Amino acid sequence: MAQILGGYFTSHVPAIGGAIVRGEQTTPYWKPFFNGLVPVREWLTEQQPDVAVVFYNDHGLNFFLDKMPTFAVGSAPGYLNADEGWGLPVYKPFAGHPALSWHIIETLVAEEFDVTTCQEMLVDHAMSIPFELSWPDAEAWPVRVVPIAINTVQHPLPSARRCLALGQAVFKALSAWGGDERILVIGTGGLSHQLDGARAGFINKTYDHFCMDSLAPHPDALTQNSVREIVEQAGTQGVEILNWIAARGALGPSTREIHRNYHIPISNTAAATMVLQTSSAPA
Ligand code: DHB
Ligand code: FE
Repeated sequence: MAQILGGYFTSHVPAIGGAIVRGEQTTPYWKPFFNGLVPVREWLTEQQPDVAVVFYNDHGLNFFLDKMPTFAVGSAPGYLNADEGWGLPVYKPFAGHPALSWHIIETLVAEEFDVTTCQEMLVDHAMSIPFELSWPDAEAWPVRVVPIAINTVQHPLPSARRCLALGQAVFKALSAWGGDERILVIGTGGLSHQLDGARAGFINKTYDHFCMDSLAPHPDALTQNSVREIVEQAGTQGVEILNWIAARGALGPSTREIHRNYHIPISNTAAATMVLQTSSAPA
């Protein structure tokens, strides 16, 4: 039987890629952030996942403003990273898991989520940065992926309640999957940040802590705000917390926090990393 091991949540700021390429992980600016990844790598080494279901948002690479699915699920045998890049080479492709993708898609549609299915899909820094942070020296990624893209870019965006429900439907799909995979759930983006406009540089530590404190025990608390209120609290791009909320839903009702790191700022973003472990994971 497949096991859902837990969730890894992280910011996906593209400048992180530049720091990796320049080898700046231990400089005063970057150290407090990269140090927060050490326990994540240790946990991944213990848990040995072989599949990752990744909730993220596309930043105009695969979907542009002319065609913007609210929820899109990749079902490709592989995904190329074709980000414009802030320094990170775009050489490492991601292997897909079409059978699991289609199983998730079947379940989501049966649960009345009208998802867009993508048999071809490019992925951007919202996938590559979290993977580089987790497996920095890997020649090939050790997991196959099912990418689930949520529109956090062009309004109207899905509500937080709907994103949690999407994740819960993915949990239902994973729980009914007949394979023996060791499944990692990843949520990328956030926390508070605003890249442009009058509030460019906006960060909200209080709201970020509320999100991190609620994520494992009370994810419903994160669904009480409308998208507009989340934008007010977290910034126009901080609404990427929707990816975290969906990923939390995919872990099922019971999970506990085992690691957290929060550092302000990385580029324009309040950078956060968390690991939640489910009770079905080996202790
Ligand atoms: C930054 C953050 C993001 O989430 C992103 O997608 C691009 C840039 C930043 O803080 O620079
Ligand atoms: Fe982003």
